[in-house]
Amino acid sequence: MNKFVVYQSDSLSGEVTIGGAKNSALKLMAAALLAEGVTILHNVPDITDVTIMSELLMAMGVGVARFGNRVEIDVPAEINPEAPYELVSRMRASISVLGPLIARFGIATVAIPGGDDFGSRPIDMHLTGLERLGAKFSYEHGNIYGKAGKLRGAEVLLEFPSVGATENLMMAASLSVGNTVIDNAAREPEISDLSDLLNLMGAKVSGAGTSRITIEGVEQMVPVEFTVIPDRVEAATFMSAIAVCGGKALLRNARPEHMRMLIRKMEEMGMEITLDPAGIVIERNTTTKGVHVSTLPYPGLATDYKPFLVVALAVSEGLSMVTENIFAGRFRYIDELVRMGADIRAEGRHAVVTGVSCFSGAKVRAHDIRAGAALVVAGMGADGVTEVYEAEHIDRGYENLAGKLTAMGAQVERA
Ligand code: EPU
Repeated sequence: MNKFVVYQSDSLSGEVTIGGAKNSALKLMAAALLAEGVTILHNVPDITDVTIMSELLMAMGVGVARFGNRVEIDVPAEINPEAPYELVSRMRASISVLGPLIARFGIATVAIPGGDDFGSRPIDMHLTGLERLGAKFSYEHGNIYGKAGKLRGAEVLLEFPSVGATENLMMAASLSVGNTVIDNAAREPEISDLSDLLNLMGAKVSGAGTSRITIEGVEQMVPVEFTVIPDRVEAATFMSAIAVCGGKALLRNARPEHMRMLIRKMEEMGMEITLDPAGIVIERNTTTKGVHVSTLPYPGLATDYKPFLVVALAVSEGLSMVTENIFAGRFRYIDELVRMGADIRAEGRHAVVTGVSCFSGAKVRAHDIRAGAALVVAGMGADGVTEVYEAEHIDRGYENLAGKLTAMGAQVERA
């Protein structure tokens, strides 16, 4: 039936190990294209999006093999630099192969990603940035055709600190001639992870984690072995589960320095968070209370955390105002939460959440990865049974979500 079946859980306990970050792993896999030979990535989550990225690389003639959470990517001297619609339409992050392909092979064909459940998501900043480095693009038959001689370093000022555009530019600029400066760059931890990999591969990237990233182009890069950072959004999922159900858990490997704003918000709600050498310990001893939430680029509150906060706030005391500043259409799951008894009024970029005592189990639909996982968490705080349909969205970003929640004492099945 392709659903999660979720029963009410009173209190959670124990520990859960946070896996590798989806949004880092996908870009690191794309970055492997920059060097001929075998790049080995550790801590790569076994999720559908990684499978799609593997299929995309294999469609180009790259060898990809998984051994547990280790992925080996064998890039030959010549490949077929094409990202077909069948794969790009399943995963927008496919666009991150564009920069490496143009930089290393001077040619790329990538299907134009369509809209998705967040509404329209343009890639204009990726393209204008790469054009500043000397790439030329034409658009026909639903594809972007990119061409370039040797890329040349340039100054690029991003209109918005786009994560994907910053990454594509960092990768392309690494194999260019001269210096590139990216201003108003995204500052997410995944950007720093990519910078660390690129530097290990022989690139000269500095300033990752700040708004100004400088890249000194190099002629050649080499394959390396690298470990993906832990997934801060997976950690947020379990934090919201504790907020909704109560109890205490150790989130093993979670990196508090990547989640400062979320930790602050959770503490404002009344959660107790302790930093442990092994990760983060989160505990709920009291009724949580409403807080105001506004998403912003890092180090602001990540848009990916928002569904988990909304679910926790929906069963907290009082009123919360939630504002989405990154993706205009990212409130669709609210209709599903309302079907589960939440009192939420959404208008444009804003939602007003009035806390209720408990969700009411219902059949609901996952619209995207994070919204789907948030509905599973809501189900854990709902009387009766909740069925979250279109579970394939959740599988795109979570390895064994049901198993991990069950190990903490929840009753969740992937049916
Ligand atoms: N934007 C443009 N033009 C562009 C690029 C972006 O207008 O050329 C706009 C977007 O439409 C959006 C804003 O800029 O309004 C930010 O988009 P960004 O490029 O930063 O996002 P992204 O790279 O497409 C990544 C994550 C998302 C996460 C966002 C924001 C991956 C694969 N995806 O997307 O994660 O929400 O950054 O932090 O890294 C998820 O994991 O489920 C997910 C959606």
